[in-house]
Formats: sequence, C-alpha cells, structure tokens
Amino acid sequence: MRIFKNIFGSGKLKHPLDISSFMVDMHSHLIPGIDDGVKDYDSAVKIIRELISLGYKKVITTPHIMADIYKNDPDIILKGLSELREVIKKENLDIEIDAAAEYLMDDSFKEHLKNGNLMTLKDRYILVEVPYFSAPPDLYENIFDLQINNYKIIMAHPERYSFWYDDFSKLEDLKNRDVYFQLNLLSLTGYYPYPVKKIAEKLIDAEMIDFVGSDLHNTQQLSYFRKILNTPALKKLISSEKIKNRLLY
Ligand SMILES: [Fe+2]
Repeated sequence: MRIFKNIFGSGKLKHPLDISSFMVDMHSHLIPGIDDGVKDYDSAVKIIRELISLGYKKVITTPHIMADIYKNDPDIILKGLSELREVIKKENLDIEIDAAAEYLMDDSFKEHLKNGNLMTLKDRYILVEVPYFSAPPDLYENIFDLQINNYKIIMAHPERYSFWYDDFSKLEDLKNRDVYFQLNLLSLTGYYPYPVKKIAEKLIDAEMIDFVGSDLHNTQQLSYFRKILNTPALKKLISSEKIKNRLLY
C-alpha cells in the first residue's frame, strides 16, 4: 500500500500560521459523558480556551450518534449543549457554542433520516462518518436520500478510511457526487497512524478539502494540535482560500 509520495516533505515552517480565518470549529466532542469525547467540563473549557487563543469565534460540537455505542438524540445533545453554555458563560469565555452531531452511516441512520430529526451544523449541512473497516453498502443510497431532502453532506475525515487508500477514485467519485470533505487538522501532524498524514496531504494537493475540523476528544490531543500551525500542508490549505468553515458562522 506504499503509493503516496510525501508531497510537502517533512519540513516545518519557521513561523506559526494564523488560522483565525477558519472562524468556526465544526467537529469536536466537547459534551462530557455522552460519547468518547471529554470526560468533564474542565477539559471542555481547556479545549475551548485553546480554540479561542487560535482565533476561533464559534464552536459547533458534534457528539457521535451511533446505533450500537452512542445512542444520542437531539434531546440528549441539546441538554448537554445548554449545560456547556452555562459553564462557558460562568468562565466568561468569548465564543459562541452550538451543537450538531457526527452521524455514523449505520443501520439506524436511515431511521433518523426518515424521522426527519437530523441535527445540522447550519443551513442543512450535515456531518457524517462511515465505519473505519469498510464502506457501508448503502452509502450511495444514503447520499442520494440526503441530497433529495436538501441536505448538504460533509464527510468527516476522509483521510482516515483505510479501505479507500488503494482506490483514490472512490474519493473522487464522492466529490463528483457533491459530497464535501472535512479534514481533521490533527491528520497533518502524524497524530494518527501512517499513512493518514500522506493521504491528508494528497487530498490538500488535489484541492479536495472543503472544511477543516479539530475533532478534539480530550486535552491530551492539544499538544499535537498546536503542531498543525507549522505544517506546509496547512499553509497551502489556507492559501487555497477554498475552506468554507466561515459559512457555518
Ligand atoms: Fe469525530
């Protein structure tokens, strides 16, 4: 599976990049106790402080909704959101907090779609993921069903699905079906196993990335997160002016 050459080299930028133009972080797990994200509000606050210091103006946190493991629904997520907002208010943090969800395209997904209670980031943008081991057999059907219902699909971290590594045309096919791609910023640091960073760079080089997200789950990830600021790949992404996060403001 050694197919991708390192497009951006291993060099580091001398000066950290300014990522304040992203404005909105639209993928994270900051509501304690409802998924594999933060365990407590102190951790959520620490992460949000870091995002503020990087210039973010709004956080849309996106708890998992999965049939087997995290059976969240809008009521659970909105209750968590209002508690998180209280904490942020008490801490006097200058940032807007909202919530949506990261939907796994599993057996329950069709049910959520049928019930019409999908949580969107804003303006019908919906964040979805697929299992890490294989693409769902009804992937294209789900895409079609979402689009005829006027949802705008954002595929979370396409660089992390190993079953597509040997067939880049599958990713190109999704783009041709008007699926937006959201890159995990941590993928630029070597935080995830090889070859996630290489695929991330290839997607950037092919100008296939539309949104970026932190996908932060815990405070341990913050030291890696800072490293993105010195990566040539992020510089290219910012210069491309193709990142649409600010549309979600
Ligand atoms: Fe996530």
